[in-house]
Amino acid sequence: MGKPFWIKHAAQLVTLAYKSPGPRVKEAMSELAIIEDGSVWLEDGVIQAIGTTTELAIHYADRATEADVIDATGHLVTPGLVDPHTHLAFGGSREREFEMRLEGATYMDIMNAGGGIHATTRMTREATEDELVQQSVGRLDSFLAHGVTTVEGKSGYGLDLETELKQLRVMKRLQAEHPIDIVPTFMGAHAVPTEYKGHEEEYVDLIIKEMLPIVAREKLAQFNDVFCEVGVFTPEQSERILEAGKLYGLTPKIHADEIEPYQGAELAAKVGAISAEHLLKATDEGIQAMAEQGVIACLLPATALYLRETAARGRAMIDAGVPVAISTDCNPGSSPTTSMPLVMNLACISMRLTPAESLCAATYNAACAIQMEDKVGSLEVGKQADIVLWNVRNYQELQYLFGVNHVKCVWKKGTKVIG
Ligand code: NIG
Ligand code: FE
Repeated sequence: MGKPFWIKHAAQLVTLAYKSPGPRVKEAMSELAIIEDGSVWLEDGVIQAIGTTTELAIHYADRATEADVIDATGHLVTPGLVDPHTHLAFGGSREREFEMRLEGATYMDIMNAGGGIHATTRMTREATEDELVQQSVGRLDSFLAHGVTTVEGKSGYGLDLETELKQLRVMKRLQAEHPIDIVPTFMGAHAVPTEYKGHEEEYVDLIIKEMLPIVAREKLAQFNDVFCEVGVFTPEQSERILEAGKLYGLTPKIHADEIEPYQGAELAAKVGAISAEHLLKATDEGIQAMAEQGVIACLLPATALYLRETAARGRAMIDAGVPVAISTDCNPGSSPTTSMPLVMNLACISMRLTPAESLCAATYNAACAIQMEDKVGSLEVGKQADIVLWNVRNYQELQYLFGVNHVKCVWKKGTKVIG
């Protein structure tokens, strides 16, 4: 292990230290546990001590000269951002579809004509494992440069056993080769592949009988996600797939109520999903059911903006007691971005989250959405030393100066990886 780092004199050290386990709801989302003139000692990959600069100066009086000292005077320091929903490991690019949508085509028109997810599926099937690794590393580097130190990554551009496994193995390799932590999700139910058009139930059976057992046996995923949407998978098919995944130890997630209201939020509550994603068209009843079951709403305001749709009702969800997380949804169709800072800005602007709620949604609650809150998402002794030093003075300024990357330095497991 290298030298310890001692970050001193942070204008605001936002710790988000939790008082009780589980995702934050309502007012607790605004409790950032800020230390002024804050200080952190990072060593052996973890946070060894955290407090005021005076407290740490006393504690480390004998070892002060051993550390690489970072003067954070005038700067905000936060936990590394967590992106709990990405489609990281895909082949190719779809810029022509962006033009087509601006010319009037809808997202579903393009997909039903064999483009959209199907286009990326073709390009992902054609790509070698090495090519997918190479393309994904570029995205991960960009995430890191935007202060993101942990991401979830979904398969779902294979839609056949071989390519779904290829995507998941790519993510396993990336976890070993790149500093960012990657939490894998199986999403064989991202679309019905074109070769199964007209016999969709057979594809559902293939997922349940062939894909899920192998994914589980090879321990390639922790979560199982379904695109429950009109014209994609019905709530009944989604339920079958998610229940089958549970038998193999995979925790459900759902792309729910994105384009049409389709009982997705209700289904998330019924199957005990850890999170429901998108939720642009979620009903009041669905929101209520999620609040009662503690399902995390993983909201994707960059996707809504990119598809020129009205964002999810984030404000109403928080007020109703739903724990809210936010994410880029990084994918080649509906949200080709790696900027979590922009997503935080949009969470405020288009969903009326407060700056404090937005930061909680991008750190601690995001970590809860991928069951990583014991390791990341807040700054506490013993947790991973995943830390961002920002070129702003406080968390309000981070949200206020929008569309700009304010990252100055990033540490991942105690190693300085940016700045
Ligand atoms: O989360 N909505 C479904 N899936 C992705 C988009 C995938 C794509 O267009 O390639 C999403 O937005
Ligand atoms: Fe998505």
